[in-house]
Amino acid sequence: MSDMQTTSAEQVADSQLLGQLDSDLLPRHLAIIMDGNGRWAAQRGLPRLAGHRQGLRALQEVLELCHEVGVPNLTIYAFSHENWNRPLPEINMLMGLLKEYLHRERKKFLEKKIRFLPIGRLDMLPHSVRMLVQEVAEETQHFSCRTLAVALSYGGRSEIIDAVRKIVRDIQLGTVTVEQIDENLFEQYLTTYGLPDPDLLIRTSGETRLSNFLSWQTVYTELYFTKTLWPDFRRREILLALLDYQRRERRFGRVPESVPQPSKL
Ligand code: IPE
Ligand code: IPE
Ligand code: MG
Repeated sequence: MSDMQTTSAEQVADSQLLGQLDSDLLPRHLAIIMDGNGRWAAQRGLPRLAGHRQGLRALQEVLELCHEVGVPNLTIYAFSHENWNRPLPEINMLMGLLKEYLHRERKKFLEKKIRFLPIGRLDMLPHSVRMLVQEVAEETQHFSCRTLAVALSYGGRSEIIDAVRKIVRDIQLGTVTVEQIDENLFEQYLTTYGLPDPDLLIRTSGETRLSNFLSWQTVYTELYFTKTLWPDFRRREILLALLDYQRRERRFGRVPESVPQPSKL
């Protein structure tokens, strides 16, 4: 079969999958641990950079599909707190790629009205990266319908610790009392405040762990693990993940008969 035929056969299959999606049952927030770039490159005898570059292509496709089907909020894990332990050349390369990505995409964020929301300990980023990240965040902060949250220098535990510190400070200032602390108040101190908790979390590359991602926010998230390496995660893969999600019954501790319809959640 020629490449052309393969592509068109895949397109037919994709459009069938697309047709099976229930637009009332889409996640309002999708979180993704984009893993496997290094292994993708190693399998081809290429440097890790090639895997990260190809990973950006996959991201592009996933973002486009989310827009097309109507998933409004996406959080992607781009660089974890623990990733600072990687060799310096790889860290520098990832920071360079992030800058390249933001320079290229910032116009698109404005055109498509996407809010770019960086989350994590941004003060640990190199100065030029931090400046750019903050600029793009500021110029898109007024968009409210679609969000791309990017976890950078992010750790779920450090996010919780930072929230605790801010709450203690507010108690010392007298703007919050101990009695006021509950889950709703706590959430207001998290960097994801304003976003619903992720309905679905996808991790690629066969690893079945959360690696310190969105620890507070994922307590009732549906988890989807696939062996596909992130650079190979394309339209078809995301459609399969969304369809799998739509077949799940989210009980939230209830018994099946009293589970509300998704639109009422
Ligand atoms: C994910 O791919 C990207 C980042 C962590 C930045 P990896 O770089 O972890 O790829 P593997 O897990 O080594 O294959
Ligand atoms: C998690 O991937 C972080 C990102 C995808 C950015 P890692 O590849 O760093 O995670 P571990 O170390 O295998 O858990
Ligand atoms: Mg990895």
